[in-house]
Amino acid sequence: MGVNKPFDNRVSCRIFDYSMRKEPSHLKWAFDPVRSELTKFDRLLESSLSADSALIQSVIDHLLEKRGKRIRPTLLFLTARCCRMTHSKIVEAALSIELIHTATLLHDDVVDQSDQRRGHTTVNAKWNNLISILIGDYLFAKAFRLLVSTKCPSLTAKVSLATERVAFGELRQIEESGNYELTEDSYLEIIAAKTASLFSTSAASGAMLNGATAKDINRLSRFGEQIGISFQIADDLLDIVGDSNTTGKTVGSDLMQGKATLPLIFALRTSSKQARKEITDVLSNGTKPSEYKRIIEFIGNSGGIDYARQRAAEFGEKGLGLIRKFGESRYYSALEQVVNFTVNRQN
Ligand code: IPE
Ligand code: IPE
Ligand code: MG
Ligand code: MG
Repeated sequence: MGVNKPFDNRVSCRIFDYSMRKEPSHLKWAFDPVRSELTKFDRLLESSLSADSALIQSVIDHLLEKRGKRIRPTLLFLTARCCRMTHSKIVEAALSIELIHTATLLHDDVVDQSDQRRGHTTVNAKWNNLISILIGDYLFAKAFRLLVSTKCPSLTAKVSLATERVAFGELRQIEESGNYELTEDSYLEIIAAKTASLFSTSAASGAMLNGATAKDINRLSRFGEQIGISFQIADDLLDIVGDSNTTGKTVGSDLMQGKATLPLIFALRTSSKQARKEITDVLSNGTKPSEYKRIIEFIGNSGGIDYARQRAAEFGEKGLGLIRKFGESRYYSALEQVVNFTVNRQN
């Protein structure tokens, strides 16, 4: 498994000094105000994932060995607190969304033929595609069982729609693979579906569980959507300028798979007809490792990296503007940290 060979793009990083800014590279400050919820979340995660099958248990143990950043649960708990809302089933809602996210990663790693995730071998690489898909399905089922236990039909409907949007976004991405005329608007629609939908649902969950007004739920959903778009733009940037030791994922796989992401879309849009033809010819013939550096330099010289970073920051700022009306609090400040992290992250 694993057609995506890791690329050494560090040379390019040095040439263009594309290294991410250092300060907000971790989420600690955002975790602190919701530490108790996160502790309950971790406990529920462990207790929910025990299985009467040696195979399932060994895959789950592998998944639990290297965990994710928990950005969606953190966002969920912080937004709920920010609006002064809590609920006895809030941890179940957060875990349900995190399990759906994990399931989509198990499927995504098959789609992308990735062999590294969270600094660990992927399930498809360690076992096989079949196991990765079926464990993904198993986690989806667990997630929906948890969701039903919240007894909140509107939240169940929102999470279901978000899950459908993730699949839709992943399929749209496959449909557009190899299309180097993809517009920025179409790219944004795809990432809104595949990534921002779960962020949006996380941000609105606390309010939904509490039966908040449609206006507030809508405001929080839109906040989460903006942050999710920002998060995926940054993720796509990391696929170009990141370091796989830090991201824990294979770098360079988007270009290799013909995925046009924002830095490339900008570079192609702003370059001469001749340069565009040269680059798309290379990309269309399947980028070889030896050509990878040339593409990265083309993107960098055109300002594509800076443009994508700036767009990620704009979406983050716009998102924060939507929830300012809930007032100053340590939770709002922590959400600012989440946005900072999202834009400048290295993992
Ligand atoms: C990875 O999400 C998939 C994307 C939407 C880019 P995360 O970066 O939140 O993954 P983990 O859970 O921290 O590994
Ligand atoms: C995000 O897309 C995956 C999902 C929304 C399921 P990517 O393919 O960019 O995510 P990574 O880089 O593999 O985490
Ligand atoms: Mg992927
Ligand atoms: Mg990616």
